[in-house]
Amino acid sequence: MSLLDDIQAIRSAATEALGKIDIADALEAWRIKYLGTKGLVKSTMQRLKDAPREEKPALGKAANQLKVALTEAFEAHKKKLGAALAGGGKTAAKLDVTLPGNRPKIGHSHIISQTVSEICEICARMGFEVAYGPEVEDELHNFVALNIPESHPARDPLDNFYLYPGAMLRSQTSTVQIRVMENTEPPVRIIAPGRVYRPDTVDATHSFMFHQVEGLYVDQGVTMSDLKTTLDQFCKAYFGGEVETRFRPSFFPFTEPSAEIDVLFHYPDGSTRWIELGGCGMVDPNVLKAVNYDPEKYTGFAFGLGIERMVMRRHNIPDIRFLYESDVRFLHQF
Ligand code: DAH
Repeated sequence: MSLLDDIQAIRSAATEALGKIDIADALEAWRIKYLGTKGLVKSTMQRLKDAPREEKPALGKAANQLKVALTEAFEAHKKKLGAALAGGGKTAAKLDVTLPGNRPKIGHSHIISQTVSEICEICARMGFEVAYGPEVEDELHNFVALNIPESHPARDPLDNFYLYPGAMLRSQTSTVQIRVMENTEPPVRIIAPGRVYRPDTVDATHSFMFHQVEGLYVDQGVTMSDLKTTLDQFCKAYFGGEVETRFRPSFFPFTEPSAEIDVLFHYPDGSTRWIELGGCGMVDPNVLKAVNYDPEKYTGFAFGLGIERMVMRRHNIPDIRFLYESDVRFLHQF
């Protein structure tokens, strides 16, 4: 085939191919094939130098025309395609529906909620049911029935969110102990997770609102060793089997004897530290009497743990405020 025939063939093949192109990628491939630095137009030009002298002017002209025609056709097609893609029209045909879509970001439950669920699950395995109580409470449930007398400093108006006479935001989940026992005959074995409120100054470890989980087990013959075993097992389930716990004598009006439970944490630098998780003890006979349980027949244990403390220890969160500021860069990690 002569060079002139080749030029004609390239031109018609290129034009035909261009007419079928409807996506940008294919257009670019076409450009590279015909107009690129190693493309067919270029190689045609290079072949000119080997042509017989007398044919050169005509071939040169034809080759030039090929280049001009294809360049113009390319620009025109590009414009047309751009307009079609941008302006709707037959865009559906130009969409590659097999490409993966943009997955919308969906949320998930907050780390505190996840922890509450996990705590409920661990305790359910030990036979505890989940109970809930109101966050707006009366003094009977927040104090009186819990053996906290009028004179007790915990009832100071500066240490509580009183709403109106007789009503307050609960300062502890121990209220739910009373609410459950009022309505249930022993045995009771419940945990009560939820929000509590205290007018504390906000800092890295304090907030005016935080979460506790209360536990209560009342039956015949419940002892302090049941309490210690239950809490130790609980801590091992939540923090891992190797975790160490210890109980320190303490005082709470609604338990006698009372203790505080600490968990030993190991830090990356090799140091260790006991962290207090909450209070516990044997339910005070006065509390049992307040709900008409016979303290001669029944005994029980109770505990109240800080959920934020547990979350912050397990996940190495240095500041409690991270948990409440809705910064998704923090939250999406959990
Ligand atoms: N209610 C106590 C507090 O908020 C914690 C607590 C201590 C709960 C001892 C208990 C308990 O049930 O037995 O500080």
